[in-house]
Amino acid sequence: MIAGRVYVTDHDHAWPDGGAALVTAPVVIGDGCWLGEGCAILKGVTLGEGCVVGANAVVTRSAPARSMLVGVPARVVKRYDPGTGKWLAAGPVGSPERRAERAWTFSPTSRSWGGSP
Ligand SMILES: CC(C)(COP(=O)(O)OP(=O)(O)OC[C@H]1O[C@@H](n2cnc3c(N)ncnc32)[C@H](O)[C@@H]1OP(=O)(O)O)[C@@H](O)C(=O)NCCC(=O)NCCS
Repeated sequence: MIAGRVYVTDHDHAWPDGGAALVTAPVVIGDGCWLGEGCAILKGVTLGEGCVVGANAVVTRSAPARSMLVGVPARVVKRYDPGTGKWLAAGPVGSPERRAERAWTFSPTSRSWGGSP
């Protein structure tokens, strides 16, 4: 599935010495990938099947099947576990603890926000 404003390129330029000469490397996007809104997939990247690329990510490196990549440059933050049918955090980023740490909540009684950025 490919969202809007997705950009996939298999080349760069050999700038400045080679001018606009092309430096190319194939891009391979596995079956069942979901490329989020506005992401860019750069030359030489191979995404295994079933990967998710977050909105506005810039993917500069390859990733194995069932990886979730976000950010600039994109990093793998979750992996899909077929055993549990869940996306599991691939590191501290994306974990429930991290999310709770970063959550802001609005208190209607004090009418103020609490939490940390
Ligand atoms: C990638 C995506 C699917 C992840 O959803 P999710 O599993 O609910 O992920 P989480 O909200 O748990 O995010 C995991 C971590 O990645 C970060 N993250 C999620 N999406 C991100 C993005 N697009 N860019 C940068 N960071 C992102 C979160 O902030 C979180 O980091 P933290 O642990 O430091 O707080 C979703 O955020 C996304 O980008 N969806 C694309 C939407 C889109 O393009 N829709 C068009 C319809 S086709």
